[in-house]
Amino acid sequence: MPVVATATAGVSRHDVKDLALAAQGKKRILWADRDMPVLQQVREKFERERPLQGLRMAACLHVTAETANLVRALRAGGADLLLIASNPLSTQDDVAASLVADFGIGVAAIHGEKPQTYYKHVAMALDHRPHVTMDDGADLVSAMVFIALDRLSAFSENQKPVRDWAEKLSPADRKHAFKDVIGSMEETTTGVIRLRAMEKDGVLQFPVVAVNDAETKHFFDNRYGTGQSTIDGVIRATNMLIAGKQVVIAGYGWCGKGVALRARGLGAHVIVTEVNPVRALEAAMDGFQVMPMAQAATKGDLFITVTGNKHIIGKEHFEVMKHGAMVCNSGHFDIELDLVALNGLTETMTPGVRHEVDEYRLKSGKTVYVIGSGRLVNLAAAEGHPPSVMDMSFATQALATEYCVKHKGKLPNAVVPVPREVEEWVATAKLASMGIGVDVMTAEQKKYGESWEHGT
Ligand SMILES: NC(=O)c1ccc[n+]([C@@H]2O[C@H](COP(=O)([O-])OP(=O)(O)OC[C@H]3O[C@@H](n4cnc5c(N)ncnc54)[C@H](O)[C@@H]3O)[C@@H](O)[C@H]2O)c1
Repeated sequence: MPVVATATAGVSRHDVKDLALAAQGKKRILWADRDMPVLQQVREKFERERPLQGLRMAACLHVTAETANLVRALRAGGADLLLIASNPLSTQDDVAASLVADFGIGVAAIHGEKPQTYYKHVAMALDHRPHVTMDDGADLVSAMVFIALDRLSAFSENQKPVRDWAEKLSPADRKHAFKDVIGSMEETTTGVIRLRAMEKDGVLQFPVVAVNDAETKHFFDNRYGTGQSTIDGVIRATNMLIAGKQVVIAGYGWCGKGVALRARGLGAHVIVTEVNPVRALEAAMDGFQVMPMAQAATKGDLFITVTGNKHIIGKEHFEVMKHGAMVCNSGHFDIELDLVALNGLTETMTPGVRHEVDEYRLKSGKTVYVIGSGRLVNLAAAEGHPPSVMDMSFATQALATEYCVKHKGKLPNAVVPVPREVEEWVATAKLASMGIGVDVMTAEQKKYGESWEHGT
């Protein structure tokens, strides 16, 4: 039984804010497309070869102009696709409208949607009965796993639409509900961590390609994409001068390195907090101050969390912050800042003192500002990663999808890597698009690299 299908004649199934926004959205999509030459090549190849012909796909991704070009490529490959949001604040409503009205692609995503609407859209994705899925954070796959395990009581009140969908199936049908799924792709670090935990528990129902772990993804997207767009989000929201500020960055992984690099480039004094001694050492030798959050909390003018972990900034940290400190998160889920604890310390909270900035006046008399409600600040307050970097991530996504489909039934129900050939093809195509040539090993060098006989 369909959950919701607000389809109107002539346009694909959708639940978007306003189809009248389509003209503006189309401009954005085409603007991004001109800076995504590798994905364009994939789209042209898919148009010729139609590797996804006859397949239904459900994609749970940030609904941005760059994602629109990914789904155009998948559609060119023959997929019948429904796109839903992977975060309530990242949807660009005009892009969603254009995908439906101009490109005939199904979308269920509305900027600022409440949790129940978010999960209504997840239920629509399940109802699409996909053969292939795509996630940014593993929300879709985890819903499928809970259903297949018949653990419907695990769904919260917000997830009721998903539970309602599952309850329409008999327990036996639930077990086999996703038997036609060939596989899934995962876009982000947090999603891959969740999926590995599912694999460890033996509950993954199908193979999942860890697109995030491809070098052509996280070396560039997580580092340069998150680096630039996170600072972009902070500046758009606050218009603050970064130069001379104490900027505390929690987590020195791929994203943290990028944010630290860009903050330093703008003249900030960067402080890094870490739990991994090797990464802490790397940050120290990259020239940043490293210290525990308890100490950094007293120093920062701006705090950015990018750990993928929870409650990085809690009550004890908010209590000792400077008056006027600004706090935001660029990690996947909105759990890195303990906003419940902050609320407990607060006398009055004024939402929207600027777009995406909330003011917390604490009982102590100090003020703390939260940017982007603690959700991914680069998507809540800016436009996410620039197209040029998503070009590589999404070309890798599309080619991983083709690989997954071509290897139907042959991959294990586990987290599997993107094949090396795909990564090399994407890197080579990106270099070519940038007009950069590279050397090729001579036969002599190749032979030397494969031998052991030559020593000192
Ligand atoms: N904003 C975006 O657009 C965007 C893009 C890509 C990834 N992400 C998300 O950002 C997060 C980080 O991704 P990544 O690829 O950098 O991961 P990563 O694993 O490379 O880095 C995370 C780092 O955080 C550190 N960490 C964990 N707990 C910590 C704590 N309590 N205090 C300080 N440091 C701690 C880890 O030791 C690690 O070095 C993930 O949630 C990922 O999904 C966001």
